[in-house]
Amino acid sequence: MDITLNVNGRPEQFSAQPNELLVERLRDGLGLTGTKVGCDTGQCGSCVVRLDGRSVKSCLVLTASAAGGEIATIEGVTTRGGELSGLQEALRQEHGTQCGFCTPGMVMALGELVDATADGPAPTEPEIREWLTGNLCRCTGYHSVVRGVQRACAAHRDEVPAGSAASTAAAPEV
Ligand code: FES
Ligand code: FES
Repeated sequence: MDITLNVNGRPEQFSAQPNELLVERLRDGLGLTGTKVGCDTGQCGSCVVRLDGRSVKSCLVLTASAAGGEIATIEGVTTRGGELSGLQEALRQEHGTQCGFCTPGMVMALGELVDATADGPAPTEPEIREWLTGNLCRCTGYHSVVRGVQRACAAHRDEVPAGSAASTAAAPEV
C-alpha cells in the first residue's frame, strides 16, 4: 500500500506491507537508526518517537496506521548544526546518559512532558517518574534523568542560567 508520512518535516512517500512496523520503516526504510530497538515488544521504550506530537513506541505502531502523520525522531531534535536541544543539554549536564542506548527514546518521551507542561507549573518529581515508567534504562538508575528533566523545565522558565554546571534541582530521593 502507498503511504505518505512527514518525517522530521520532510515528506516521505513509499510502499509498505500492511504488517510493517513504524520502527522498521524508520530504521530500515529511511535509515533513521537513532531510534533504537531494545525489546521489540513494547516494554523498553528505546523506540519511542513522536507521532502527531504524542510519544509512541514505534515497535507497536503499524506504518499504515501512522499514514499521513507527522513523525519526529531523535534525528529531528538536534539542530542541523549539531546543537543539542534544551532537554538534551540538561540531560548531558546532569549526566543523564551513560551507554546512551535508551537516550533517544527518553528524549522523545520526556520531550512530550516538557512540551506539555511548558505553559504551566513544572512537573513534580513523582510526575516525571510516572512519565518515565515506559522507558527502561540499565545504566543511570534514573536519578540523573529526573534531574535532567527538572533542569530542562527550570531552564525553560529561566530559573537556571544557560550552561550552568551546578544543578538547582532538588536531589531526588533514592
Ligand atoms: S523496542 Fe519498542 S518498546 Fe522496546
Ligand atoms: S544510558 Fe544505558 S541504558 Fe540508559
